[in-house]
Amino acid sequence: MQDLTPDVSTLDAVEIGPVDQLRELQLQRMRWSLQHAYDNVAHYERAFKAAGVHPADLNELTDLRHFPFTTKDDLRDNYPFGMFAVPQPDVRRIHASSGTTGQPTVVGYTERDLDNWADVVARSIRAAGGRRGHKLHNAYGYGLFTGGLGAHAGAERLGCTVIPVSGGQTERQVRLIRDFEPDVIMVTPSYMLALLDEFERQGVDPRSSSLKVGIFGAEPWTEDMRREVEDRTDMHAVDIYGLSEVIGPGVASECVETKDGLHVWEDHFYPEIIDPETGEVLPDGEYGELVFTSLTKEAMPVVRYRTRDLTRLLPGTARTMRRIEKITGRSDDMIILRGVNVFPTQIEELLLRVPGLSPHYQLVLTRPQRLDELTVRVEARAECSAQQRHSLTNQLRELVKQNVGVSVDCDVVEPGTILRSEGKAVRVLDQR
Ligand code: DLL
Repeated sequence: MQDLTPDVSTLDAVEIGPVDQLRELQLQRMRWSLQHAYDNVAHYERAFKAAGVHPADLNELTDLRHFPFTTKDDLRDNYPFGMFAVPQPDVRRIHASSGTTGQPTVVGYTERDLDNWADVVARSIRAAGGRRGHKLHNAYGYGLFTGGLGAHAGAERLGCTVIPVSGGQTERQVRLIRDFEPDVIMVTPSYMLALLDEFERQGVDPRSSSLKVGIFGAEPWTEDMRREVEDRTDMHAVDIYGLSEVIGPGVASECVETKDGLHVWEDHFYPEIIDPETGEVLPDGEYGELVFTSLTKEAMPVVRYRTRDLTRLLPGTARTMRRIEKITGRSDDMIILRGVNVFPTQIEELLLRVPGLSPHYQLVLTRPQRLDELTVRVEARAECSAQQRHSLTNQLRELVKQNVGVSVDCDVVEPGTILRSEGKAVRVLDQR
């Protein structure tokens, strides 16, 4: 793999500046953001008053802990535009997250918000190894989802040649990669796997493709998945994180030279980790739920937005900003199976250790009698015979039992039988 470490002279000053300057900037911006939310969004004025706090109470960054959380329900209750802090004519764009249940959540951007967003995505692509002049294949979905247009604007900002493919039409995606020879691809990790399978179906070794780096996000993925992709290709697999409510992709990003977790672009987004049960702020290094306060957003500021994503905060390495460890899962994706917490990523890690099993999997929850049962449905690799499959079933069952501590059923199925997502993969099928 090519060394794609960016030249220090191309970084934003804040990425490598002194940490106390960063904290000072955050404090100034946080004061502004809390006041802006309080003055212009009825919900925040009400919530702050109910909690007995005022923006003027913020003397240092840690005072943020006295302010109330914001949840997805607050956004839903104020559907569609009740959380906006600027008059509608100043809103230049709207996105919405699909929301698997109930109402979608709606988010808005002013011109300056779009500008800042493009900057942080450009910074993320550069951190991942992208450069001015690189061709970038963007397979995140365009439309109300923030992935497509968010990545697009950032790539243009960095000076890439953008190929705006969007999701779907797998055969055509691979054809375009072969013909246009992009250096960078932005896509969900699960769809990248579908593209790799398609390469092989077309009789082309993905190692021979022009791709040097893949920037994968919008869903959890594991170190084992990184290894799988990097083994099958000649590209770096780098993580990008974000959520619509906070801005979209580009809230945090991995650096290609370290691949040791995602640096949060803290000059725009202030992270906290809380105990999801008690709401108490946890010290850096401890696992809990990630919470964000926007520092510069005009159209839709968020104060202590509870992401439901589980991770921990670590000190900066390649950049000044703190890192989040790769997200292990969402609290609402967690399966509680006979009292044991199970995340899809734990299963992913284990099945990728069994030679003969592919990374295409789904977890099926049923309740045949009174007890919940979990079946890991996973595709065998093409070279695997029917007889071998039987032993794989046992191996996987044993691994899960030993490592997660629960008994599950395993169903090793034919290659190609599990529905491929063209964006975020659906890992859990709840049939209870
Ligand atoms: O998925 C924004 C995005 C687009 C990020 C493209 C990266 C790339 P939402 O649709 O609002 O926004 O979904 C946000 O997706 O709270 C996480 O649960 C999950 N997620 C996003 N990135 C990652 C990641 C976009 N790198 C939700 N690792 C978040 C794990 C991720 N989970």
